[in-house]
Amino acid sequence: MTARIIDGKALSKQLREGFKARVATLVEQGVTPGLAVILVGDNPASRVYVGNKVKACEECGVRSFHIALPSDTPQAEVLATIARLNADPAVHGILIQLPLPHIDGRSVLEAISVHKDVDGFHLYNVGGLVVGNTIFPPCTPYGVQLLLDTTGTDVAGKNVVVVGASNIVGKPMALMLLQREATVTICHARTRDLAQHTILADILIVAAGRPGLIVPQMVKQGAIVIDVGINRLPDGKIVGDVDFEGVKEKASWITPVPGGVGPMTVTMLIENTLRSAERALHVPGSEDYQDWEAPVLKGA
Ligand code: GUN
Repeated sequence: MTARIIDGKALSKQLREGFKARVATLVEQGVTPGLAVILVGDNPASRVYVGNKVKACEECGVRSFHIALPSDTPQAEVLATIARLNADPAVHGILIQLPLPHIDGRSVLEAISVHKDVDGFHLYNVGGLVVGNTIFPPCTPYGVQLLLDTTGTDVAGKNVVVVGASNIVGKPMALMLLQREATVTICHARTRDLAQHTILADILIVAAGRPGLIVPQMVKQGAIVIDVGINRLPDGKIVGDVDFEGVKEKASWITPVPGGVGPMTVTMLIENTLRSAERALHVPGSEDYQDWEAPVLKGA
């Protein structure tokens, strides 16, 4: 069997087309959605990611505020910048690109208003994930969930194995799928005999940052394989964590790298920003407002 491809580029394009109508409706109501992106320092990879986010905003009609701070910016100044953006009604989403140099990332993330935390990294939103009701699901696992939906698979009762336990991908991914009643296993760098776990997966999600980690012998026949890895090889080629050519002969569905999960992350950031702008039009406490709280995680 050769796997069908889960096309993240196509789904992203389709979603972004839909965003344009939502932006137009917001603008009619006097609101132009706005996203502030803060970059501290000059990490080359972070610069590329931030550039992609700003570009996606432009494409979808979202106003972007790109704030570039030098790497020696004192923590107090970063916090003051966030406080200013929290109070700015033109800003509906605030994102601080990670990793941060010399600054305590947690205290910076906690300073972002939970109502503008479009990355979903504030403890309030992380806690919301635990109880199945967050305002902003984190972008990469949110994108993976939509990619899984395109296969028409109901994850309830399925064995899902998540390889990688990061705060950005692995842990929130596991919580989101648990909410949808999957049986979830999280593997990580200290897991012994990884294959013993992955071979049981009906759905295998890999976010380990190790090229070629998952080979065909580790994959169950007919599994759905989602590759979150983005690795640059010495020859410049971009590959995921999965041996795509080998595993596609065993899987039923598989994401390519590039063109799978990658484009979805930025798309879901725009989705969260639009939702934030839409929420801002509703009065907290009203019945209507409740509808905006947990769009994805309420489950089927
Ligand atoms: N660094 C790597 N991934 C991410 C992400 O999704 N959001 C932010 N803010 N920083 C990151």
